[in-house]
Amino acid sequence: MTDAIVIRGGTVVTADDERRADLLIVGETIAAIAEEDETLDAPGGARVIDASGAFVMPGGIDPHTHMELPFMGTVASEDFFTGTSAAAAGGTTMAIDFVIPDPQEPLLAAFHKWRGWAEKAACDYGLHVAVTWWDKSVHDDMGTLTREHGVNSFKHFMAYKGAIMCDDEVLINSFRRAGDLGALCTVHAENGELVWALQQAVFEAGITGPEGHPLSRPPEVEGEAANRVIRIAEVLGVPVYLVHTSCIDALEAVTRARLEGQRVFAEVLAQHLVIDDSVYRDPDWDKAAHHVMSPPFRPKHHQDALWAGLQSGMLQTTATDHCCFCTPQKRMGLGDFRKIPNGTNGIEDRMAVLWHHGVRTGKLTASEFVAATSTNAAKIFNIYPQKGSVRVGADADLVIWDPSKRRTISAKTHNQNIDFSIYEGMEVIGNPAFTLSRGRVVYEDGELKTTRGAGRYVERPCHATYWAAQNLRNDLARVRPVERVLPEPEQEG
Ligand code: URP
Ligand code: ZN
Ligand code: ZN
Repeated sequence: MTDAIVIRGGTVVTADDERRADLLIVGETIAAIAEEDETLDAPGGARVIDASGAFVMPGGIDPHTHMELPFMGTVASEDFFTGTSAAAAGGTTMAIDFVIPDPQEPLLAAFHKWRGWAEKAACDYGLHVAVTWWDKSVHDDMGTLTREHGVNSFKHFMAYKGAIMCDDEVLINSFRRAGDLGALCTVHAENGELVWALQQAVFEAGITGPEGHPLSRPPEVEGEAANRVIRIAEVLGVPVYLVHTSCIDALEAVTRARLEGQRVFAEVLAQHLVIDDSVYRDPDWDKAAHHVMSPPFRPKHHQDALWAGLQSGMLQTTATDHCCFCTPQKRMGLGDFRKIPNGTNGIEDRMAVLWHHGVRTGKLTASEFVAATSTNAAKIFNIYPQKGSVRVGADADLVIWDPSKRRTISAKTHNQNIDFSIYEGMEVIGNPAFTLSRGRVVYEDGELKTTRGAGRYVERPCHATYWAAQNLRNDLARVRPVERVLPEPEQEG
């Protein structure tokens, strides 16, 4: 038999459990999983990978990336090939990237443009589509995207005024439409008007360096937008997913809504869990600018709350918002922090950072790690169990994880197409030994083996049972007009 791989001797970890089991992969999928005490015979010609001492887990799914994004007057340096290759080196086998149409650009045209760019991807990928403006064509294109193109999530930026920001009118129109289609609304929650006003105030006060960035985007700005958008979703009876939740203020809004029974999901970036806002006061301008992203890094006490959010299930997914700009691109904002392109690296390191700081410290179990790095995203974006599981018939997107493998993260050795790393010098224990993408070994003991264009677009149908808000306050199906005796119209003259 050709194209077969047996993974022998490992401990299979899923979001549900951990057990010793051999796996057989044939072609692109998992063909058999042995019983705990059974050794799986390798069919003739099969490659046998020794996984003893290692964990065999679903490959990571990063639900928030921006490969080759045109943004703030430049283009993100990481393209779909280099980005998904770097992902594979870190154990991530799928990214969900964002189509971001310019205001007035038809959604379908933008979607097809991104599909073209993404053809070079080395691992599988999906695409969320941003709604940045509104008219009837946007309404119609949302329908076409869900029905014909496997898009079940739409993105809304409440920040970036004058560029891609949605006002409440666009949010409401889009949320209603997504609700009718059974699609999920995702949101970048920061009050863009406040950011704009604070940016001018900070700049006019003479603060022109990267330290001005967090001053213009304090936690309250995120908390206000998170509260507002959650309330909008509640009134309209639609589920909502907050991307890159970075602070206590937003986490509290999510927690309150979830405790009230509202269908609210929230993501946290690995970066926000381990890096704090002291980076913006680095005397080296480049180093400070490297960390300019939105929402910004927060004072340290927010990290404890974010970890607790992940542990308690209030935050379900981890992502990277991988959006790389090299040092010369960052320098577009020398003398004016408002012009520093927003975004940082992370796709290669998310799994190891989460393992080292989460599993090794006892904050997360190995199964919780799998849920937070893969399975929960697969469930929320409706690609489970094809992705995010270790099951017979599922795609063989797997990472064989060596819990004792040490690595010091550095731009000198990473595979990401960016000339710095915000994790420079961080030692992480627990790293991939092998990564498999649909049955192909794409990373093996330090060596990348990805192929340009081998990744496939993954269609994400809308959920069959829609997550309507359970406690809809304004349920028009239940209210009736009041029957009244109307006053006689006044006689004329
Ligand atoms: O700074 C960031 N996060 N850049 C990418 C765009 C976004 O806001 O997600
Ligand atoms: Zn964002
Ligand atoms: Zn983003």
